[in-house]
Amino acid sequence: MTYVLGLSFYYHDGSAALVKDGVVVAAGEEERFSRRKHDPGFPAKAIDFCLKTAGITIDQVDYVVFYEKPFVKFERLLLTAFSTFPKSAKVFRESMLTWLQKKLWVRSMIIDTLKIPRKKLLFADHHMSHAAAAFFCSPFEEAAILTLDGAGEWTTATMGVGRGTKIEIQKEMRFPHSVGLLYSAFTAYCGFEVNEGEYKLMGMAPYGEPKYVDRIMKMIRINDDGSLWMDMRYFAYHWSATHSFTEEFERVMGKPARDPALEDKSLDPFYCDVAMSIQKVTETIVLKMASHLHKTTGLKQLCMAGGVALNSVANAKIIGQTGIEELYVIPAAGDDGGSVGAAMWACHHVLDIPRAGPLEHAYLGSEYSDAEIRAFLDGQGITYTHIANDEAFFDRVSDDLVAGKVAGWFRGRFEFGPRALGSRSIIADSRSTQMKELVNAKIKFREAFRPFAPSVLEEAAGDYFELPGAVNGHPPSEGASWPARFMLYVVPVKQDKRDVIPAITHVDGSGRLQTVIKKFNPDYHRMIQRFGEKTGVPVILNTSFNLKGEPIVETPAQAFNTFSRSEMDVLYLRNFVIEKSAKRIIDSTPFQLRHEGDRIVEMVS
Ligand SMILES: [Fe+2]
Repeated sequence: MTYVLGLSFYYHDGSAALVKDGVVVAAGEEERFSRRKHDPGFPAKAIDFCLKTAGITIDQVDYVVFYEKPFVKFERLLLTAFSTFPKSAKVFRESMLTWLQKKLWVRSMIIDTLKIPRKKLLFADHHMSHAAAAFFCSPFEEAAILTLDGAGEWTTATMGVGRGTKIEIQKEMRFPHSVGLLYSAFTAYCGFEVNEGEYKLMGMAPYGEPKYVDRIMKMIRINDDGSLWMDMRYFAYHWSATHSFTEEFERVMGKPARDPALEDKSLDPFYCDVAMSIQKVTETIVLKMASHLHKTTGLKQLCMAGGVALNSVANAKIIGQTGIEELYVIPAAGDDGGSVGAAMWACHHVLDIPRAGPLEHAYLGSEYSDAEIRAFLDGQGITYTHIANDEAFFDRVSDDLVAGKVAGWFRGRFEFGPRALGSRSIIADSRSTQMKELVNAKIKFREAFRPFAPSVLEEAAGDYFELPGAVNGHPPSEGASWPARFMLYVVPVKQDKRDVIPAITHVDGSGRLQTVIKKFNPDYHRMIQRFGEKTGVPVILNTSFNLKGEPIVETPAQAFNTFSRSEMDVLYLRNFVIEKSAKRIIDSTPFQLRHEGDRIVEMVS
C-alpha cells in the first residue's frame, strides 16, 4: 500500500490531496477550512482532513509531493526582474522579501512542519502536475495532453502525450507569453479582479460582439500550432505587481480601462464587446492547440488542465472542431488541482504504480453524518424537522422547489474544485422567469448579469442541451461527455427548451450544464428526478452554496449562517429541514464532537 500526499500552496488556492495506490481518497482546498477565499497558505487544515479521512497519520504517508519547483520559479522572477529593470524595481523589492523570507524555503518548511524525513519529499514541475492531474485522472490509457495557465515556473502551456503510467511533454510555451495572463489582462482591463473575475468576463461575453479581435491581434500573434507570441510593450505583468497592461494597450483598445472601483458593474456595451473579443481569441488558441495535438499525435483523446481549462465555453467547442473525439478535464483544473497532479505524478510516473481507474466524480471533501448534524442543531437550539425517509424527504424538497422556494442543499462529501455539484449547492426551480434576478440580488448578492448553471439528469441532458459529440439526436459517447459532469461545458440550450428553463438559459441561449449521474450522487439524482416527475422538467438551478466573495460552505454551521444571512427560504442539512423562522447568526467556528464508542456525548467549539 502506497500513500502519496500532494500539496499546492503559496500562489493561490492552496490544497492537499491524498492518493492511495493511484486512487484519490481525499482532496480539498484550504479555503474551505480556513474560510479565507483563495487561501494561498500552507494547507495545514486540508492535510489534516485528508489524513483523518484515510484514517492514517503523516508517518504512514510514503511520499509528500510539492506541485512545483520553487527555485526554478525564483529564477524566472529574478531574470524577469533584471531584464525589465528599472521598471520592475518596486515589484522586485517586494517579491524578494516574500521569497527570501518564505517561498524559497518550502522544502525545510514542509519537512519541519510535517516532521517527515527529507527523502520522503519530492518536487514535481508545475505543468507536469497539471498534465498528471489531467491524464492520470482520465479514463484513457493513451491520450494527448494540453495544459494552459497563467504561469508555472517558466512554462505557461504544454503539449504532450500520456501512455499508461508515463507522460511525455513534447512542446512548451514560456513566460511571458501566456494565454492565462492574456485573459487576465483583459479581466483587469474590464474592471474585474485578476484570479477572481475571469468567470465574470466569460459570463459577460455573450452580451457583446467580437468587434475588437483585430485590435487584440495587433498586440499578439497566434501561430498555426496555437502557440502565442505577445508583444510585451502592451503588457505589464512581467514587471508590475499591480498592472497587467500598459497605456499603449489602452490606446490600441481605444478606451481607458474600466475603473475597478466602479460600484455599478452593469453592462457597458464596449466592455461586453471586449469580453467577447478576448473570448474568441482564447477559443482560437485552444482549438488550434487541440487540432495540432490531434494532427501530430494521431490521438483522438485529449486531457486538459490548467486555469484556462476552466473556460468551459472553449471546452465545448473542442469536440467536433479539432479531430478530438473524447475529452477529459479535471474538475479542479486550476492550481488547486496541482496537489492531485503532484501526487499522481509521483504515484505513476515516478513509482510506476499501475493506474487504478479514472477520477469519476469530484466528491472528495469532508462530509457530516445525520448524528453530527443533529448534535449541531440540538447544541445550538435550532428548530428543525427531520424527515428520516428519503423518498418522503425528496418529495418535500421537490414540492418546495415547485412552490418557488430557494433552498440550501447540504449533503455528502464536498466537491473538489470551484464548482458546486450537488453537495454544497443553492438550488431553485429552473422554470421560473424571475429566479435569476432573485438569486443574484437577494441570495448571492452579486452582479445581475451573471448566469446560473443547471443540474440535469444525465438521461435527460440530450433533450434539453446540444451536447458536444451528439449526432442526430443520439447522445454523445461517454468519452465526449466527461466535462459535462463537472460543469465544464457551456453548450446551447435546445431552441424549443429556452423558454422552458429561463432561469438557467443565458442571454445567448447557452447553459453551463452539470449532468447528474445516479451512480455518483444518487440522492441529488433522485431529488431532481422527483422534481421532474412533478413538473415534466428534470432540470434545476444549481449555484454554489456561498455568498459573494466567500468560500463555499464546509460545515453545517457555516451553511446555517449563510442561510441566515441571505434570503434563502429553506435549508436542508441532509434530511433535516430548517425553516426561515429559525434564522439567526451563530458562532460558526468548526465544532468538534466528543465520542464515547459510537455515541456522541458532547459538542465542543
Ligand atoms: Fe497552474
